[in-house]
Amino acid sequence: MPLIAPHGGTLVNRLATGKAREHLLERAATLPKFTLDATQASDFELLANGGFSPLTGFQTKKDYDAVLERGRLAGGLAWTIPVVLRTDLPVKDGAELALTDGSGLVLGTIKVESAWAADLEAEARAVYGTKDAAHPGVAWIRQAGATLFGGTIEAANLPPHGDFGDYRLTPAQARAEFERRGWRTVVGFQTRNPIHRAHEYLTKVALETVDGLLLHPLVGETKKDDIPADVRMRCYEALLADYYPPARTALAVNPAAMRYAGPKEAIFHAIVRQNFGCSHFIVGRDHAGVGTYYGTYDAQKIWETYSPAELAIQPLKFENSFWCKKCGGMASAKTCAHAETERVSLSGTKVRELLGRGEIPPVEFTRPEVAKILIEHYGATT
Ligand code: ADX
Ligand code: MG
Repeated sequence: MPLIAPHGGTLVNRLATGKAREHLLERAATLPKFTLDATQASDFELLANGGFSPLTGFQTKKDYDAVLERGRLAGGLAWTIPVVLRTDLPVKDGAELALTDGSGLVLGTIKVESAWAADLEAEARAVYGTKDAAHPGVAWIRQAGATLFGGTIEAANLPPHGDFGDYRLTPAQARAEFERRGWRTVVGFQTRNPIHRAHEYLTKVALETVDGLLLHPLVGETKKDDIPADVRMRCYEALLADYYPPARTALAVNPAAMRYAGPKEAIFHAIVRQNFGCSHFIVGRDHAGVGTYYGTYDAQKIWETYSPAELAIQPLKFENSFWCKKCGGMASAKTCAHAETERVSLSGTKVRELLGRGEIPPVEFTRPEVAKILIEHYGATT
């Protein structure tokens, strides 16, 4: 049995090499420039390396409208988050532009196939379920501009990164690594947090039934009060070193920006992980949620609106999990009937307070090796 096929069947690769790359860079030098912000640059990277297969460029109005209205591309394939370029400046249909990163480095080109004025409030409601500007995803689309454009891209460079060198696997490289290890079924775990006992529990329950685990933390743009990716990476390394079987676990980073779009982003996260070779994907409580915008299990319920034929990757849905003192282990309401008072549950605020004071939270909440790294971080920033 081969690894799961990419979404839509073919892994896209827009990255030119050799002579083709040289020609592309020569042509790009003659074109008007458009500077990508950090979120757009991470989208470009995932378009170029196939993480967003079957997309071959930023979406046109037809696809954007279909994504908002139906959670599908115009051709019918499941897709829930718009991947478009945004600006306040006018953009002409048919123009060809060089795309650069913030430093001016040419990443590639785009042929503008479609440019339009967007109704950002309608987009906010369709994707984020709210038009509240306090929502970080809504805030981002509002500041990025109401002229949207899309079209096929050609890539000459992936955005350069100074960090996470060996962990920056492309979908093709992740797939090659799974093949090398002889894995056929792989569960992907999305996270933007340090891995605490609840996360560890989900990943290990999942590991009981599949060949391997891809720990795939998102390291693109996140909101300011999320823990920085480099600190989280040290936590992941410490945890993997002592608590996971190396032969059954792989760590790689997802360069994507976080949207905080709850259910819509859960589907999007899963599609990207399918492209990276995952057959299964963990969706727990309030996946990709923020504040109180989404119901605790909305990100699980949305899967009922797609047929299994539309989404080949299988969601592994988990209830809120916790340490139960009476059970003497991790559990959820599905496996434990003890009283609420038996459960170790700490709010994020409470944990930050403890760490800020240099205190290690209970081992029922987080592994001490992880707590130590977080204490160093909080000590350095407070
Ligand atoms: S995010 O993408 O959902 O924002 P986060 O790091 O907060 O990332 O969570 C990673 C995954 O673990 C998500 O699928 C989330 O639903 C799940 N999760 C986090 N905490 C728990 C918990 N206590 N019980 C069950 N699932 C959880
Ligand atoms: Mg969460």
